[in-house]
Amino acid sequence: MENLMDKIVSLAKRRGFVYPGSEIYGGLANSWDYGPLGTELKNNIKQLWWNKFVHRRDDMVGIDAALIMNPKVWEASGHLKEFSDPLVECKKCHSRFRADTIDLNGVCPNCAAKKTFTEAKQFNLMFKTFIGPSDDQANVAYFRPETAQAMFVDFKNVVDTSRKTLPFGVAQIGKAFRNEITPGNFIFRTREFEQMEIEYFIHPPAKDADWRDYFEMWRKEMWSWMTDDLGLPKEMIHELDVPDGERAHYSKRTIDFEFDYPFGRKELYGLAYRTDFDLKNHFKEPPYRDAGSAEAFWPHVIEPSLGVDRSVLAVLLGSYTEDGDRVYLKLKPKLAPYKAAVFPLLKNKPVLVERAREIYSGLQEHFAVAWDDRGNIGKRYYAQDEIGTPFCVTIDFETIGEGDGKNKDTVTVRDRDTGKQERIAITELRNYLHGKIYG
Ligand code: GAP
Repeated sequence: MENLMDKIVSLAKRRGFVYPGSEIYGGLANSWDYGPLGTELKNNIKQLWWNKFVHRRDDMVGIDAALIMNPKVWEASGHLKEFSDPLVECKKCHSRFRADTIDLNGVCPNCAAKKTFTEAKQFNLMFKTFIGPSDDQANVAYFRPETAQAMFVDFKNVVDTSRKTLPFGVAQIGKAFRNEITPGNFIFRTREFEQMEIEYFIHPPAKDADWRDYFEMWRKEMWSWMTDDLGLPKEMIHELDVPDGERAHYSKRTIDFEFDYPFGRKELYGLAYRTDFDLKNHFKEPPYRDAGSAEAFWPHVIEPSLGVDRSVLAVLLGSYTEDGDRVYLKLKPKLAPYKAAVFPLLKNKPVLVERAREIYSGLQEHFAVAWDDRGNIGKRYYAQDEIGTPFCVTIDFETIGEGDGKNKDTVTVRDRDTGKQERIAITELRNYLHGKIYG
């Protein structure tokens, strides 16, 4: 299974999904850059999520807040005090590790010295910076470690300007930063990553069932997202009800959705009931008034929290398919960087190239499409399979009416997953692809 990870990392680099960050300068500890195809895949995931959870729901609005917030936010949210991991240092080689990820009585993973670890001390994961030209304590600020806090801090502004009434959610997609002690496993754990988060606000529950019902609704939504939208194999996803004592400081219940990565079963997403912890910390006065009863209170919140980069990794791992000599990414067509690739059968036949260009430009108005006229058709198929392009459209001599003329003005469309080819009329091509991709 480890081998699969190597294959994915290699494919990602070779085909332009993800590269090591700052590579020509020797890289920068576990930073990664998304290349042209990775950017398309990531954008498709974000757009699909926004469409499903914001545009297609009446009970949701979105925001896009500043990354650097007033430091008082992190004091109120508890992050300054609580957002830390236990850190130990090897006394011999001075490598640092998260105490809960190694055997403290075992050997140092770096220099193999035995039992050389210092006592664990708490290390705050927030990235510090300074606002303005002087780097003194008064100007300290932090890059947000989660997108969530902006939804709480902006809560009243959203209520006042959106006319939403409970229950409703606020969604955001954006970068978050954590000074992780042990980043690793490619884009699984990095210091800079993206989140897609929803804070779903509800009335203060009179009884447990009141919040549990909403929690259940979001549990189902997350399953639907992972399986129907991302197309992750159901059997690779597992729920972990995080026990008391192991949950984040704000949570009364958390389910971690774990995924079977080649390096083990680890968290993909989280779903938490954060109670009124955050709004109470940020607002001295109740920030919401019920229009009917005129009662003012602090709403409670259910939070589905999703990592974008972990979504990309899970999608790559879940879609990687080897079938004899063939390697392909069985991506849901909506996620594929290119929906179709257009080929003139031969590069040196201007009539074919011209016709293919026309078809290519026509499709470009509606889909992300690739053009390829290099090498032979087999090689082009191979290349498109590896990047998960669901359809390849070939313009050949029959298209331009040669032969018996039966197939004039048609093209062949080859399906990535079955390898089968169909002849489709050019006038039908757009509808045909649209139906297959979005139908
Ligand atoms: N607002 C709640 C929150 O941030 P979290 O479990 O710490 O909860 C949510 O993070 C999600 O963000 C995780 O399930 C994961 O998908 C992603 N994530 C967290 N830390 C990450 C990291 N260092 N690198 C990549 N993704 C990360």
